[in-house]
Amino acid sequence: MNILGIDTSCDDTSAGVVRDGRNVLSNIVQSQVMLHGPHGGVVPELASREHLKNIVPAVHEALAKAGIQMSDLDAVAVTVGPGLVGSLLVGLYYAKSLAYVNNIPLVAVNHLEGHIISIFLEEKIPEFPFVALTVSGGHTSLYHVKGYGRYFLLGQTLDDAAGEAFDKVAKILGLGYPGGALIERLSRSGDMEKIKFPRPYLSNDSLDFSFSGLKTSVSLYLKRLNENQAEISEKMKADIAASFQESVMDVLVNKLMRARENMGAESVVMAGGVACNKRLRDRLLQAASGHGVQMYYPRPEYCTDNGAMIAAAAYHRLLNGERSDFSIDVRSKFPVSELEEIV
Ligand code: KG4
Ligand code: ZN
Repeated sequence: MNILGIDTSCDDTSAGVVRDGRNVLSNIVQSQVMLHGPHGGVVPELASREHLKNIVPAVHEALAKAGIQMSDLDAVAVTVGPGLVGSLLVGLYYAKSLAYVNNIPLVAVNHLEGHIISIFLEEKIPEFPFVALTVSGGHTSLYHVKGYGRYFLLGQTLDDAAGEAFDKVAKILGLGYPGGALIERLSRSGDMEKIKFPRPYLSNDSLDFSFSGLKTSVSLYLKRLNENQAEISEKMKADIAASFQESVMDVLVNKLMRARENMGAESVVMAGGVACNKRLRDRLLQAASGHGVQMYYPRPEYCTDNGAMIAAAAYHRLLNGERSDFSIDVRSKFPVSELEEIV
């Protein structure tokens, strides 16, 4: 079964073709980083206009790369939320028109389900049940995953997402946007023990996260440095980046492992843009080995927003006989706990 998956939830125009839920025939991502970079973050109005320009070429490229025609598609899957409303609308209405014209099913997908299911695009896959951490620019959530479509929220961020904190700290340090990979690179030449930034919410029993205070700590630290000396050296910036990154890692790894222990799960999965971070992967590997825990994370291409993960999530819904009505609309907020309302 060939499914075209479309994701335009934020600033990437993505389209991918996946066969039988696991075999990626193509995965095209048209990035808007160059457009939003000078603004230091995503500008929603610009994002939707850019999706309008990119969506048709991205889908055509996905089909060409997969070596198939529109008539070879069995269904069209599309993200309906959560995300930026204007951006989501472009993907949804294009998907609706493709499904209508080609007389094939439309499957509405929750973006977060896409991230959780992205691990099934890899060769090595976990067995249910497992604990999953989805950690990106918009979300930081822990789930107990009991099966396809059976996701139970264990904890989530109460304010900023981890990726958002990376982006904001990168902005404070004058590194550019998006900040995650830039902070990771700079951290390699820094001393992660130099500054003891707070580990928010680590000492309590909750599996929730909070990153906005940490960002403020970094900002205050930099302000004090600026008051005391004329120029902040590259080495100082690297120490700040590495110390900040380690704070985030401590919290993410600790809570993920605690959630695993609470649930008695043997496997942990990590997905979303921040899961590209090599230090995070190493830290998790360290924490998992010794406990007999299996650790899974998709390759970077499937961690960041992509259409293939949307097609993979839709596959199981289609097998279940689910089809979306053409009256379906986008949802800026869409917790996975409300997934049953999707069709
Ligand atoms: O999943 P994604 O592409 O989009 C959202 O759904 O948000 O994630 C993008 C986020 C950005 O905040 C970016 O800074 C962060 O993931 N990110 C990273 C790394 N690569 C991307 N954060 C930390 N380390 C990285 N290597
Ligand atoms: Zn995402």
